[in-house]
Amino acid sequence: MSLFVDGLLNGRVAFVTGGGTGITGGVARALSEVGARVALVSRKMEHLEAAAELIRGAGGEAIAVAADVRNYDEVERAIAATVEKFGKVDLVVNGAAGNFLCTAEEMSANGFGTVVDIDLKGTFNTARAAFSELKKHRGQILNISATLHYVGTPMQLHVSAAKAGVDALTRQLAVEWGRYGIRVNAVAPGPIEDTEGMKRLVPQQVKERLLRSIPAGRFGRIKDIENAAVFLCSEAASFINGAVLVVDGGQWLAGNSRG
Ligand code: COA
Repeated sequence: MSLFVDGLLNGRVAFVTGGGTGITGGVARALSEVGARVALVSRKMEHLEAAAELIRGAGGEAIAVAADVRNYDEVERAIAATVEKFGKVDLVVNGAAGNFLCTAEEMSANGFGTVVDIDLKGTFNTARAAFSELKKHRGQILNISATLHYVGTPMQLHVSAAKAGVDALTRQLAVEWGRYGIRVNAVAPGPIEDTEGMKRLVPQQVKERLLRSIPAGRFGRIKDIENAAVFLCSEAASFINGAVLVVDGGQWLAGNSRG
């Protein structure tokens, strides 16, 4: 059940990269629950179709569009397909991301570049390709960042570098595009338990230590990120521009102090 009033985002059209699964899949569903029509975009059509079907089954409007965010032309075509279907794009959520665990000395140049290409260049590509739509409709961008780069997180050099870039991009675009009425913000999720990333990337031992380090006393849930995202995309946040909203129960501030 949504905590927000029905129809909060009625009339809005959201273009959500990485919207088929995980945290961003939840964000897409949450935007739809409060009235937005959504285009789910990623490389793999099989995840997207299933997610779009779930949204439609719950009474929302959703389409699945295949595009690799690393490829600018594909992103442009996906935006055009969304405009053709829903008439506009006035909300962009950049959630497409890649990750694997790897030490810096074992990482290949291509491995580093691949994650930077997906997370950082993909965010730029999508924002840039959506610009004229966002300008026309005084729209918004919401980037999905992380807290990894606030400290030194082992085996996450590539993602940390990319997400630091995403934060920079969030602030730069907020300044440059604010004059067009475009707001650009980000959510930085901490450890979220019901995700593929947590299952695949965090070993059990580390998980237990991590839990002890969270002042809020629990892991985050996808719902926590959904709520932050809906708030930032709503008129309740109309004067918030260039913010990176950390949603981590205080984890990065506390670090290992409770572990
Ligand atoms: N450890 C070290 N290097 C890795 C790796 C791993 N686990 N996984 C990929 N790489 C390297 C590859 O070796 C390759 O570099 P190389 O050519 O020097 O060998 C480079 O990254 C590109 O890999 P490739 O599999 O060709 O790229 P891709 O575009 O198909 O997929 C990812 C890249 C990052 C998306 C892939 O790791 C992936 O599919 N991950 C699962 C999905 C995911 O990350 N979701 C986000 C959850 S938070």
